Amino acid sequence: MKGIILAGGSGTRLHPMTLAASKQLLPVYDKPMVYYPLGTLILAGIRDIMLISTPHDLPMFRRLLGDGSQFGVTLTYAEQPRPDGIAQAFVIAADWIGGQPCALALGDNIVFGAGIPEQLQAASKRAETGLATIFGYRVGDPERYGVAEFDAQDRVLSLEEKPAHPKSDWAVIGLYFYDARVTDMARALVPSARGELEITDLNKAYLADGTLASERFGRGCAWFDAGTPASLLQAAQFVQTVQDRQSVQVGCPEEIAFRMGFIDAEALRTQARALGKTSYGKYLADLADGRHA
Ligand code: TTP
Repeated sequence: MKGIILAGGSGTRLHPMTLAASKQLLPVYDKPMVYYPLGTLILAGIRDIMLISTPHDLPMFRRLLGDGSQFGVTLTYAEQPRPDGIAQAFVIAADWIGGQPCALALGDNIVFGAGIPEQLQAASKRAETGLATIFGYRVGDPERYGVAEFDAQDRVLSLEEKPAHPKSDWAVIGLYFYDARVTDMARALVPSARGELEITDLNKAYLADGTLASERFGRGCAWFDAGTPASLLQAAQFVQTVQDRQSVQVGCPEEIAFRMGFIDAEALRTQARALGKTSYGKYLADLADGRHA
């Protein structure tokens, strides 16, 4: 299975912070935002990853992440010249996807919590059998998001983008798993009134086809869409709180790669040396020495 991190867009809600800098490279406490979705894909067992961003920002992502070998993955880069929609990622990446199942993680979405690794791996297995998976998260302000309505068996009944009168409190988060048909399905989409290839339309196409599955994140799981100053700060405070209280890292791709068996202790030590005396580097060194087990 392949995975895309979509890290373009204009980030207008974070202006002036994002006038010169990419949103997905802003810090979320102690690491760049893009580390979190990268960790999410690694947690799903995905090793072949494409990062898509603007022509202007792509060189910075390359500088930060390189070829991905420090995380035990292969990273490929592609440009999205204009923010013409989230589903456009599959059109841009079509040749690279090569008719395989593919996941998509938005570069500003952060998920954390018990049970999530199993849910990601279930979605990944499902994608191999011809099903797509969306993830639901209960929120107090569903009208700001894509909203899913479920039946008692967790089947998706309807999907609506930013509805004025939401049918449920369940937001659809920026993480999607699709089967091998995804590039054909994305190519068949027509741009919406705002001129974008909409991810909700792609999910609706799977829903109409009867091949859209779902996973709902339970109580105690965290999801942040770090797209506004307030949510960016909340995400950073959450990460700091969990890391300080439990002495574990949130969204550390090297740690996840190590636990998934993608890299060994020696690779962790190499990364730890490169990061010098930072608490992040020290954490990696401790991990290599068998602490934080
Ligand atoms: P949004 O947060 O909806 O858009 P944005 O990042 O441009 O921000 P703003 O609304 O403040 O102007 O996008 C969600 C994620 O998807 C974000 O990580 C950017 C990414 N994205 C793209 O990379 N390309 C696109 O065409 C779109 C629509 C979004």
